[in-house]
Amino acid sequence: MNVGPIKDLGRVFDRVADAYDAGRPGYPDEIFRALNELTGVDLDGATTVDVGAGTGIMTRALRARGSHVIAVDPGVEMLARLISRSEGDTPGVAAVLADGNALPLADGVADLVTYAQSWHWLDPVVSIAEARRVLRPEGAIVGCWNLHHAGQADWLAAYEARLAEAVPTYWGPAVEQWSVPPIAAAFEVIEERWIPWTRLVGIDDFLLDLRSHSYMAAMSPRSAHELVERQRAELREAFPEGVLSVPMRVYLAVGR
Ligand SMILES: C[S@@+](CC[C@H](N)C(=O)[O-])C[C@H]1O[C@@H](n2cnc3c(N)ncnc32)[C@H](O)[C@@H]1O
Repeated sequence: MNVGPIKDLGRVFDRVADAYDAGRPGYPDEIFRALNELTGVDLDGATTVDVGAGTGIMTRALRARGSHVIAVDPGVEMLARLISRSEGDTPGVAAVLADGNALPLADGVADLVTYAQSWHWLDPVVSIAEARRVLRPEGAIVGCWNLHHAGQADWLAAYEARLAEAVPTYWGPAVEQWSVPPIAAAFEVIEERWIPWTRLVGIDDFLLDLRSHSYMAAMSPRSAHELVERQRAELREAFPEGVLSVPMRVYLAVGR
């Protein structure tokens, strides 16, 4: 199989696949209740195409709620972690190495197409046309992003400000013009919801999460290391017990 061009698409995250797998948070239960309420689709028994599935954080959550999941991602290393975690304990997941802008799926096969933290990596028009093509008429498209709610805690705002200062390609809540990806503009009918939650996490895991961001992968290893160690020192000083209570919020958008 020739996976050259597909491999290039997934390269950024492939470099940080281990940190991603170990450090990124899951999604709160509330988003699955909201997803059912907003789409009318019962996850139990539904067929979901999870585009940009990565290491499978959303894929496993959907599967745990009874959905049959087709997990699509162009990142060889990211998908390898999804597969190794799925073996044995998650039958009902099919992993497909592919570009979400050209889904290798027949028309009208899915009840849901999900983009968990991934739609902003795809072509905004082509991806949605592909999602519509593979959906059944009553199906829905779901975008969600798990975000730091920096306005809720001074220490988190300061942490984000240090990132903005040190990382040339940082794009997040410390930038005044920052906003969620404009998936709402891609739909005629859209429902949006913000779902707050709190992440309890050790400082080391929180910094693994930091290492898994594409803007960190784009830095030189030395600069990335220095930044992580600076953040570690600041966080340890503020939280000597080593545990963080991180205000988070999920932006959920559902389109039809
Ligand atoms: C931030 S990760 C999200 C992973 C996972 N959905 C989650 O919830 O943690 C973004 C993923 O999008 C994938 N991606 C990038 N370009 C893509 C494309 N054209 N088609 C499908 N997935 C793509 C990357 O390989 C990466 O695994």
